[in-house]
Amino acid sequence: MKIKLNIFCLFLLSVWSTAPAAQPSLKEAYSSDFLVGCAVSDNQIQNKYPKETEIIIGQYNSISPGNLLKWGLVHPKPQQYNFAPADRYVEFGQKHNMFIVGHTLVWHNQIPQWVFQDNDGNSIDKDTLLARMKEHIFTVAGRYKGKVNGWDVVNEAITDDGKMRENNWFKIAGRDYVIKAFEYAQQADPNAELYYNDYSMWRKPRRDAVIELVKELRARGIRIDGVGMQGHWSLTHPPLEKAEESIIAFASLGLKVMITEVDVTVLPWPGEYRGADITKNEELRAELDPYHEGLPDEVQQQLAKRYADIFTLFHKHADKISRVTFWGVQDGKSWKNFWPVKGRTDYVLLFDRDCKPKPAFDAVIRVVKP
Ligand code: GLA
Repeated sequence: MKIKLNIFCLFLLSVWSTAPAAQPSLKEAYSSDFLVGCAVSDNQIQNKYPKETEIIIGQYNSISPGNLLKWGLVHPKPQQYNFAPADRYVEFGQKHNMFIVGHTLVWHNQIPQWVFQDNDGNSIDKDTLLARMKEHIFTVAGRYKGKVNGWDVVNEAITDDGKMRENNWFKIAGRDYVIKAFEYAQQADPNAELYYNDYSMWRKPRRDAVIELVKELRARGIRIDGVGMQGHWSLTHPPLEKAEESIIAFASLGLKVMITEVDVTVLPWPGEYRGADITKNEELRAELDPYHEGLPDEVQQQLAKRYADIFTLFHKHADKISRVTFWGVQDGKSWKNFWPVKGRTDYVLLFDRDCKPKPAFDAVIRVVKP
């Protein structure tokens, strides 16, 4: 009997010692560095794709609302707010103890035209526009006061060459629209963190323009807590030393730096075919959608290496970076399958179309848990 028991114990020991150590989650691996988040959809919040919801709960300690808090979705008509998905989103974040991001109060995309027009379709004046903006910000940020931890107050107000983007907000209200958005957000929820969020923040002209904006806000006594550097990157762009310069420059102003919207495309930039719909053009597919049938191992490894390099940089600057957020959960649902060309097959995230972790996932973990 005793011998049998010993053999059994030996057996257990050998199983235990040969079993692979359980992989830590992203949030555990980076717990001393920064929050790790992802953008979620209403379907995921409602557990319509259980594997995806499981990843969200298991891997991340922050969430961003993919679309559901954008003006067009939450406030589609002048007197109509659609809060059901946003309420579910905030409840989900609270239930799972997550840092809840609000995205985004003021942006030029996914916003209805009525915001900028009167009943006859004519452009409204600056005061009317700012009053509408104030009403929107007070209603939305006010509703989630004390629940949403940080807001992307303004998204994408500056161009690659450091100028103000000539969007409807700017055409009617000038640069003041950015200033006012922060002022109203601060009033609507005095305790929420307030961020400016934009893409290609590694480009010097945009970085310098954002720094000017931050200084201007502060000179007027208006709070801004951080900047979000969108991370829609590729295997080759941006050069990471450029991104590093921006991380350092923003942090030196005392701002929290967040890398928001991380995804890494493996597909070629389409040049003149930007906006094309590849599903209707088989000739273009060969050129622009090379991995339609699957990702070759070689490219899979390049992606893993690129992710490792990116997270090595983030880890190095963990004292400056407060959060890194992926733009989506798994490859099949990424917006990059539809933009800048519709109908491609991209592989931008850490989880594949079956919700399995990719080599890029292991590579990201290995940066901090070698
Ligand atoms: C921008 C926006 C995001 C999202 C992505 C594309 O980066 O900030 O909200 O729309 O584009 O999905």
